[in-house]
Formats: sequence, C-alpha cells, structure tokens
Amino acid sequence: MILLLLIHFSSLFNNLSAKHNNNNHHSHNHHASARSHRPADSNPRLHQAFIALQAWKAAIQSDPNNFTTNWVGPSVCNYTGVYCAPSIHDNKTQVVAGIDLNHADIAGSLPDELGLLSDLALIHLNSNRFCGVLPSTLSNLSLLYELDISNNRFVGPFPAIVISLPMLNFLDIRFNDFEGSVPPQLFAKKLDAVFLNNNRFTSFSIPSFISGSSATVLVFANNNYGGCLPPSIVNFANTLEELVLINTNLSGCLPEEVGFLYKLKVFDVSYNKIVGPIPYSMAGLYHLEQLNLGHNMMTGEVPDGICMLPNLLNLTVSYNFFCEEDGVCRNLTSKKGVKFDDRRNCLPERRLQRSEKECKAALDRPVECILGGAAVAAAAVARAVALPNSPSLAPTPT
Ligand SMILES: *[C@@H]1O[C@H](CO)[C@@H](O)[C@H](O)[C@H]1NC(C)=O
Ligand SMILES: *[C@@H]1O[C@H](CO)[C@@H](O)[C@H](O)[C@H]1NC(C)=O
Ligand SMILES: *[C@@H]1O[C@H](CO)[C@@H](O)[C@H](O)[C@H]1NC(C)=O
Ligand SMILES: *[C@@H]1O[C@H](CO)[C@@H](O)[C@H](O)[C@H]1NC(C)=O
Ligand SMILES: *[C@@H]1O[C@H](CO)[C@@H](O)[C@H](O)[C@H]1NC(C)=O
Ligand SMILES: *[C@@H]1O[C@H](CO)[C@@H](O)[C@H](O)[C@H]1NC(C)=O
Ligand SMILES: *[C@@H]1O[C@H](CO)[C@@H](O)[C@H](O)[C@H]1NC(C)=O
Repeated sequence: MILLLLIHFSSLFNNLSAKHNNNNHHSHNHHASARSHRPADSNPRLHQAFIALQAWKAAIQSDPNNFTTNWVGPSVCNYTGVYCAPSIHDNKTQVVAGIDLNHADIAGSLPDELGLLSDLALIHLNSNRFCGVLPSTLSNLSLLYELDISNNRFVGPFPAIVISLPMLNFLDIRFNDFEGSVPPQLFAKKLDAVFLNNNRFTSFSIPSFISGSSATVLVFANNNYGGCLPPSIVNFANTLEELVLINTNLSGCLPEEVGFLYKLKVFDVSYNKIVGPIPYSMAGLYHLEQLNLGHNMMTGEVPDGICMLPNLLNLTVSYNFFCEEDGVCRNLTSKKGVKFDDRRNCLPERRLQRSEKECKAALDRPVECILGGAAVAAAAVARAVALPNSPSLAPTPT
C-alpha cells in the first residue's frame, strides 16, 4: 500500500513538472489514472490540496525556519501551517481550511495551483518574503474569509482578485509594494476590516452610491493618496469605528461628514496637509476615544465640544495653527486624565507654541473651505510649513 502511494505521488510530481514545462499539457488523464490506484479511504479534496501545496513548495526559494520541510507525502493535514477541518458541504470529509505561515520568513511566490485549495477559509502569510502578484486562480477560493498577506513583497496594481471573493471579510495587504489606485468596488464589499497601509497607492475613491458598507476598521496610512477626504466617507457611518489616514498627503478641509461617523472610536489624520477648522459636527462623536489631528495646517479654534467628548482618552492637535482653545481643553489632563497635546500651535498663553512670525504668516492667509472639502488659499500656508518625517505603523501578528 505504501509503495503504491509512493508510486502514485511520485507520478504526480512528474505531472507537475511536466505541467510547468508545457502549459498546454493537461494533467487530467494523470489525475484519472492516479485516482484508480488510490486506496479506498483517500479523499479527493486532500488530494487536490496535495497537488497545490507541492506546487507551492516548489515555488519557494528559501525557508530559513523550516516551515515547509515536512511538506512531503500525502498527509497534508500534518504539514506545518496547514489546518484541516470538516468540509462545510459534508462534515465527514476533511478539507484544508486554513494556511497559517505567519512570520515564516519564506521567500518565494504564489503558484496558480493555489486555486485548487477551494476549501480555504483563511490564509495568513504575514511577514514573509513572498513576491510577485496574487494568481488570478485565487478567485476559486469561494469560501475565503480572511486574507492576510501583510509584510511581504507583493507588487503591481491593487490585487483586484480579492474583490471577486464572495465571503471575504478581513483583508490585510499592508506593508507591500502595491501601487496605483484602490478600486471603488472594494468599498462596496461586505468587509469588516481593511488594512492597506504602507503601500504605494496613489488614490482611493469611496463611491457615493454604496450603502450598507460593513467596514469597522479602515487603515490607509502611509500611502500617497493626496486630495481631500471625500464627503462620501459618510457611507461608512453605520459601522466605521476606526479610520486611520496617517501620512497620506491628504489636503483640503475635513468634511462635516466626518462628524456623522457616529460609531468612530479612533480617528487619526495626522501627518497630512489638512487645512481649515475642526468641523464642529465632530462634537457629536460620542464614542470617540482617540483623536489625532497633529502635524497638519489646521486653523481656528479647538472647540469645547471636542474636549467635552465623553469617551475621549487622547487628543492630539499639536503642530497645526490653532489659535484658540477652550478652557475645558486646557483642563482635560488635570480633570479627566485625558492625554492632551497642543504643542506647536498659535495658542496664546500656552507653552511650546510656534513663533509669532510663523503664526502670522499662516493666519494672514485664512482658508476658506468650500463644498466637498476643497480649500482655497491654502497654498500659502503649505509653503510656510516644512512637513516633518512620518511615523510608521507596525504590522501586528494576527
Ligand atoms: C533548518 O534545517 C536545516 C537543515 O536541517 C538546519 O541546518 C537549520 O538549523 C534549520 N533551521 C532552523 C531555524 O531550525
Ligand atoms: C499525522 O499526525 C497524526 C497526529 O499527530 C499522526 O497520528 C499520524 O501518524 C500522522 N500521519 C502521518 C502520515 O505522518
Ligand atoms: C453532520 O451532518 C449530518 C447531516 O447533515 C448531521 O446530522 C450531523 O449532526 C453532523 N455532525 C456534526 C458533528 O456536525
Ligand atoms: C477550483 O476548485 C475546484 C475544486 O473545488 C477544482 O476542481 C478546480 O480545478 C479549481 N480551479 C482552479 C482554477 O484552480
Ligand atoms: C507626499 O507628497 C510629497 C510631495 O509630493 C512626497 O515627497 C511624499 O513622499 C508624499 N508622501 C507619501 C506618504 O507618499
Ligand atoms: C496619544 O496619542 C498620540 C498620538 O497618536 C500617541 O503618540 C500617544 O502615545 C498616545 N498616548 C496614549 C497614552 O495613548
Ligand atoms: C480645572 O480643573 C480643576 C480641577 O478639577 C478646577 O479646580 C479648575 O477650576 C478647572 N479650571 C478650568 C478653567 O476649568
């Protein structure tokens, strides 16, 4: 029996290499003949997984921590990082439901054969050196719920393949080299959390037509979007709890609609080129805990309505041109233990403010916010400020 298995799988190896050498060569016949030799208890789903995982192993150039060393033989459920579970279609059949190679530091690419792993619900490849693009065959993974390919070396445009995954709920592609625009269709999907930070995306548009978006966490930081935060952000109002846009070259004014995101707990737009005032609508963000507007070119007052937010824990308005602050704000730290940072503004009677000259240059040219978040007469302010280096958002293991 073991001998038969060995013969069977070594013939599959040959088929795989034959397939690699000749794309027109279909391995159908080999599958059929292999099946006839298979023992009665063998499982066609695991057999497909075996083909996929062996192709993957062949596409790996370096595996310094020996994650895939035991990826030999037909028992794919025993492979390191491979998780089996009963099929959702038939609970008596084991299938490969999860791949977790987080922090393996593997160098390689993703082969087309991964499309055979159609039972996968979860792929975690955080912190490896996978490169290239996501194969289009991944569209076959109709059950995929979580995809984490963060901190790798993937390149090319936004991996549009993820938009075709009907069950996808969690998408983490941060810390790669994706570039270009983020397609609006992404935001029409029922995604709970989306991490796009630390790539080279140059634009994103939130379509105005979507409703019923389910995102609770959107992290777009450290990309080069430019432009204004669109008022269509309001489309996330019913679900969005965290919006992080640090260092994305956002300009213009914050739209009033930010204040309609009534579930927000974290709002961070620091290290951008935002001008104009804090929209007073933000005083209605009852759940807001972390608010970071630091390192922008905002003007006007820090309104008491913001400082009185009942759940506020940490308010940063430093490195702007705010010129007025309510007493409630000044007292935040002593009264409620809230972390408050208002350094480097133009606040009279406060320590560690900008020089009079710097303030005058900015305040002499007031900014007018117009519909849609655009601002006029902002260019002069931009010239008056040298933007500092930005922080990084470390990926977190999941
Ligand atoms: C991986 O296996 C090789 C060869 O057996 C061994 O030299 C190396 O120390 C192993 N690496 C780790 C991290 O265990
Ligand atoms: C797979 O792992 C199980 C549990 O550790 C073990 O009983 C079984 O012998 C292994 N199968 C093979 C083929 O290594
Ligand atoms: C497996 O499925 C059968 C038929 O759908 C069902 O009766 C049974 O309770 C299920 N078993 C488990 C462990 O879920
Ligand atoms: C998609 O998955 C099915 C099994 O569910 C498999 O037969 C088929 O070959 C796969 N297609 C691709 C392109 O991998
Ligand atoms: C923002 O724009 C400036 C000027 O074009 C550029 O140097 C910088 O790299 C951009 N920031 C990011 C995060 O891409
Ligand atoms: C408050 O927020 C700032 C800016 O995001 C951060 O640097 C700081 O660590 C936070 N402090 C606390 C106590 O959370
Ligand atoms: C600040 O808080 C302290 C302690 O609660 C209180 O005595 C003081 O009157 C407050 N000052 C202002 C300006 O609200």
